[in-house]
Amino acid sequence: MKFQFNKDQILNNFQAWALRNPDQTFSRILLPFVSFVEGLIANSPTYLYSKRFNLGRNFCCAGQVVMGEFATLESALTSPQARTWRLGTTLLDQDFFPNLDVGGRNVFPLALSDLEAGGNGNHETFRQYMQKYILNENATQRQSDETAKSLLARLATDYLEMPHDIGGSFFSDDQRGLKRFMVRYLHYVLFGLNPDEEQVMELLTQLYYTNLGTLHYFAVVGKLLQKFNLKGHKNLSEMIEQVATIYENSTALADFQENIADENLMTRRELAKMMTSIMSIAALQGPLHLCYTSMGFRPLPSYPGQKTAEINLTDYWDNLDLNDRQAVKLYLLECARVWAPVSASHRVATAPFTITIADREQTFPTGTKVLIPMSLGLLDKSFWGETTYEFNSQRENLCPFHMGFHSVGDRHAGRICPGRDLALEMLVDILVTVGKVRRSS
Ligand code: HEM
Repeated sequence: MKFQFNKDQILNNFQAWALRNPDQTFSRILLPFVSFVEGLIANSPTYLYSKRFNLGRNFCCAGQVVMGEFATLESALTSPQARTWRLGTTLLDQDFFPNLDVGGRNVFPLALSDLEAGGNGNHETFRQYMQKYILNENATQRQSDETAKSLLARLATDYLEMPHDIGGSFFSDDQRGLKRFMVRYLHYVLFGLNPDEEQVMELLTQLYYTNLGTLHYFAVVGKLLQKFNLKGHKNLSEMIEQVATIYENSTALADFQENIADENLMTRRELAKMMTSIMSIAALQGPLHLCYTSMGFRPLPSYPGQKTAEINLTDYWDNLDLNDRQAVKLYLLECARVWAPVSASHRVATAPFTITIADREQTFPTGTKVLIPMSLGLLDKSFWGETTYEFNSQRENLCPFHMGFHSVGDRHAGRICPGRDLALEMLVDILVTVGKVRRSS
């Protein structure tokens, strides 16, 4: 315990100094290394929690200043943000992102600053394109049609036929079960692709799940995987181009209005390429992880000093009124509170700021990377009270103050997860359909 305390202190003190003195040689040599290594480790769900436990509300981690106070998080999530190449704590490799990877411009929304925070307007424009062509009324309609229902029915059959307790292959297999469902369902709903076209579904499954396509975008990791051709990463860029072409020719983009003359607008290819990164990093990961938690694939994290890991969530699922969709949604939101599928986001400071770290006021310069740890806000006792680590889907303020989708309930400044409602609708359908066969078996 003492060693843990010292290690945290040393790392914190070094980073606080280095972030305040970014031009010093020592900072320039060591900080990128600390950012990379700690950035990966900090994805463990208890890491930031332990830091807060040992160091207090504000600290430094993964080359970023972490401000864990509920009100500070609330303000960060509802204000314009400047951005850089980070996925929460993880460093990203801009060389691999659309469309920088083919000598084009950056169309990855998470790394584009808001106009009001120094951006050039591309974040706002590209988001509008996604909403116009992909996350639109047609997608919502497809969610409740016969094809979507038959995919859900197939998922329920897989659930009955495959092991589905902790670690069960229903969750981990990529030819059947949950992962195959996610690929089929989301590509049908978002792009109108035919879920029975096996060759296409196989390519998509390989790119996004079998070959761990998300790691392609991680700094150092992506290049190492490519260099040593691990998990088929030598061909990953080619696969991404193939998939972008499939998206380009999909029903969703059939009516795309191309306007090459105006460079502020997006091309069809850019939108398709942008969606390959979004499917990889956002759409096929967040919902999968929320299913892992809510359907009993893995226990809740063991937060130090808490009994969260002993909570059996499937007991709660089994006792839900499955005809009450709002109750199922609240159950999912509470699962996403005690274990946020996306733990943190980031911003870049657009002005110097002063905060207290380890009882000392410290001033950080413009350009400092700041972590937005939604997971700490979702578990903040000062807001949620003494029952923070208990499971209660009826808890007060769950909807209006939920931070799991990069907003505070419905409040945000233009960066709320645009897939939130679609994801929740799908997840409620999964828990209801699979929940019914689970009870009848
Ligand atoms: C349980 C499911 C999901 C959760 C918890 C979730 C959470 C989040 C979070 C926290 C962010 C902000 C990340 C950041 O800015 O650093 C985000 C962004 C985003 N999500 Fe989701 N997401 C989910 C599902 C989806 C789905 C199904 C889609 C479908 C396309 C989607 C599309 C996006 C996009 C495009 C962004 C970037 C928005 C922007 O930068 O303006 N997400 N999501």
